[in-house]
Amino acid sequence: MALWAGRFSKEINEGVNAFNSSISFDARMYKQDIMGSLAHAKMLCQQDIIDQKSYEEIVTGLNKILTDINNGDLLFDPVAEDIHMFIESELTKLYPISGKKLHTARSRNDQVALDLRLYSRDEIEEIKEMLVTLINVLIEQANEHLETIMCGYTHLQRAQPITFAHHLMAYSEMFYRDITRLDDILKRVNISPLGCGALATTTYPIDRYFVAEQLHMNDISMNSLDGVSDRDYAIELANALAIIMMHLSRFSEEVILWCSWEFKYVELDDAYATGSSIMPQKKNPDIAELVRGKSARVIQHVPGLLTMMKGLPLAYNKDMQEDKEALFDCIDQVKLCLPVFTDMIKTMRVNKTKMREAAAKGFINATDCADYLVKHGKAFRDAYKVTGQLVAYCIEHDQVLETLDLDIYQQYDPTFNDDIFDAISLDTCVNNRTVVGGPSPTSVKITINSMKERLSDYAK
Ligand code: ARG
Repeated sequence: MALWAGRFSKEINEGVNAFNSSISFDARMYKQDIMGSLAHAKMLCQQDIIDQKSYEEIVTGLNKILTDINNGDLLFDPVAEDIHMFIESELTKLYPISGKKLHTARSRNDQVALDLRLYSRDEIEEIKEMLVTLINVLIEQANEHLETIMCGYTHLQRAQPITFAHHLMAYSEMFYRDITRLDDILKRVNISPLGCGALATTTYPIDRYFVAEQLHMNDISMNSLDGVSDRDYAIELANALAIIMMHLSRFSEEVILWCSWEFKYVELDDAYATGSSIMPQKKNPDIAELVRGKSARVIQHVPGLLTMMKGLPLAYNKDMQEDKEALFDCIDQVKLCLPVFTDMIKTMRVNKTKMREAAAKGFINATDCADYLVKHGKAFRDAYKVTGQLVAYCIEHDQVLETLDLDIYQQYDPTFNDDIFDAISLDTCVNNRTVVGGPSPTSVKITINSMKERLSDYAK
C-alpha cells in the first residue's frame, strides 16, 4: 500500500498509479529532495520534535541513499508515485522507526515546492556560467574583427557601415541581460516554502527560518497558502529561458543567412556543419537551424505554464505536477543549445573580403555624404535631397558614390570638394562614429571593456 493509503482499503489501480506518477520526471530532483529533508530533520531535532537518535539515523540513511543513487546502486522505482515518496520509503526500509518520523510537520506540497526551487537555483547557476562562456567567445571574436567592415542592416536592407565586432557585441548585450534577468529571478526563486505544510502550516513548534538558513535561502514565504501554490518562479524562469532562446534564434537566423552563397560572410567549421545525403556540394548550418527550431518549443512552455495555473483555486492542485516537465524541458533545451552554439561561433571563419564587398555596394555611406554637406553649412533635409539625387544618378549609371567624378558631385551641389571621397570612405564612416555604443573600433573597445568589467562580477 502507498504511504498515503491510511484510509484506503484497496490498492490503487495500476493504470491510475502510472497516470498519477511523476517519478519518471521528478527523479532528477533527488539531490534537492535529500538536501531539503536533511535541513528539515535537523530543524525537527533542534526543536525537540524528533529525538537525536532518530535524527542521526535519518542523516545516515539519507546520505546512504544519496551515495547509492549517485553510484547507480539504487535505481528509481518506476512504481513509486514520486521522488518524495521514493526517498521516504527507501529511508524507512533502512530505518523503519526513524524513517517514519521524517515527514513530521511537512507535506509533499511544501516539499515539492522547495525541491523545485532548489533545483531551479542550481540550474540558474549553470546556465549563467554557460552564458558567460558564450559572451567571452563573442568578445574573442570581436577583438579579431574590430576593423572588419560590414554592412549594418535595417529591414534587411543595407543601411550604414558597422564592423563585425560591433554586430557581435550587440549579442553580448542580450546575453548579458539574460544573466542579470536570471539573477533577478533568483531572488524570488530562493525563498523557502518549507513549513507551509499541506496548506495551513502545522501545530508543531517548527523553525522555518532555520531551515531556510540551512539551505542558503534568502527568506521564507510569508503566507502558507501562497507558499505551496506559487509557481511564479517557474513561470519567470521559463520566460527568461524563452528569452535566451529568442536571442539564440535571432543569432542563428543571421548565421544561416551569412552561410548562404548569397552572403558568404562566414564559413562554419566542418565539425559544426552537416552535409546532404544527395547533394554533394552542400554544407548545412544544422546547428543554427535546430537552435532556431528549439526556440519554438521553449517559448511555447511559457503560455503552457500560465494556462495551467490560471484557473487554479488555492492552494495546491495536482495540475501543478505539470509544471515540471515544462520547466525541465526549457532548462534542458537551453543547456543543450548554449554550449554547441558557443563552439560553433568560436570556430566559424569570417570572410572579411565578402563582408567588405557587400558593404561597398548598397550606398551605405549615403548618410555620411549628406552629413558632409551638413558639416559644410547645409540643412540636413536639403543635404538629404541632394544625396538622394546623387544615388539615383549612380544607380542609373551603374556607379557608386566612391567612383563618381567630383564634377558630377559639384553639378548637384557646388559645396562638394575633393575631401568628399575621404568623408564617404567606409573606414572613415566607421572610424568617425566614436559615440559611446557606436561601431568605431575605439567605441567597440569601450563596450568590450565595459562588458569585461560587468562580467567580472561573475568570475568563478
Ligand atoms: N508529485 C507531486 C507534484 O509534483 C508532489 C506533490 C503531491 N501532493 C499531493 N497532495 N498529491 O506536484
